[in-house]
Amino acid sequence: MRERSGKEMVIQVNVDFLAKDAAKAAKRGDLIIVIDALRCSSTIVTALANGAKAIIPVKTVHEARRIHAKNPSYILAGERGGLKPRGFNLGNSPLEYTSEKISGKTIILTTTSGTLALTYSREASWVLIGAFLNAKAIAEKASLIANAEDINISIVQAGTNGRFSLEDFICAGAIINELPECNIKLSDAAQASLLAFKHAKDDLLAYVIRSDHSRRLIELGFIKDIEFSCKKDLFSVIPVYRGGVITKIK
Ligand code: MLT
Repeated sequence: MRERSGKEMVIQVNVDFLAKDAAKAAKRGDLIIVIDALRCSSTIVTALANGAKAIIPVKTVHEARRIHAKNPSYILAGERGGLKPRGFNLGNSPLEYTSEKISGKTIILTTTSGTLALTYSREASWVLIGAFLNAKAIAEKASLIANAEDINISIVQAGTNGRFSLEDFICAGAIINELPECNIKLSDAAQASLLAFKHAKDDLLAYVIRSDHSRRLIELGFIKDIEFSCKKDLFSVIPVYRGGVITKIK
């Protein structure tokens, strides 16, 4: 329930660190913003910006294959260990999601942590998907919805294999930095992520590249994905997850 400050309702903004925290945020009735800047949420934002019709996020490779077997026209996409699983059409590199490949298509996507966070958040009435790529648009939309529906905001980091991730923490700060200041109250974690973003904002790549997951992606040859995912506000697309499917808010 939201607090009142004088006559104005106050939106509480929390930052949670792990995919499973999304289930608690959903129980609290919060609007959830799921972040997995490297790379799942950047991939989702890019796919929708480049004309994908819908994305179905699923937890396991097996489930993704099963849905694909029933819907062979869908694109089967995702990663395990950062790499495209056998027989998949696309991996989890946002740069693969060009309009030539995905415009008008439905994509079944399974990733290690990002799609897991989404499945944990499925009971929430509002789930948006944020990245550096759409930080400003997501902040503005989340604030509008939270005000209109009288609910708080939880930014849930997908994390890296069940652990805290630096890039998502900085990305949470990037989104918080764009929220209107007047009627929000930041949790300690939200304030800390804002401090981290303000420290890193003039050279996001230089800070993001120090994270554990960045090091792993560089070993796998995906440095260009990191460079691309650090481009703040490249897109204004707002992905919303509802009824098991991600589409963009028109
Ligand atoms: C994930 O969901 O765990 C990530 O997006 C992994 C990756 O970078 O492919």
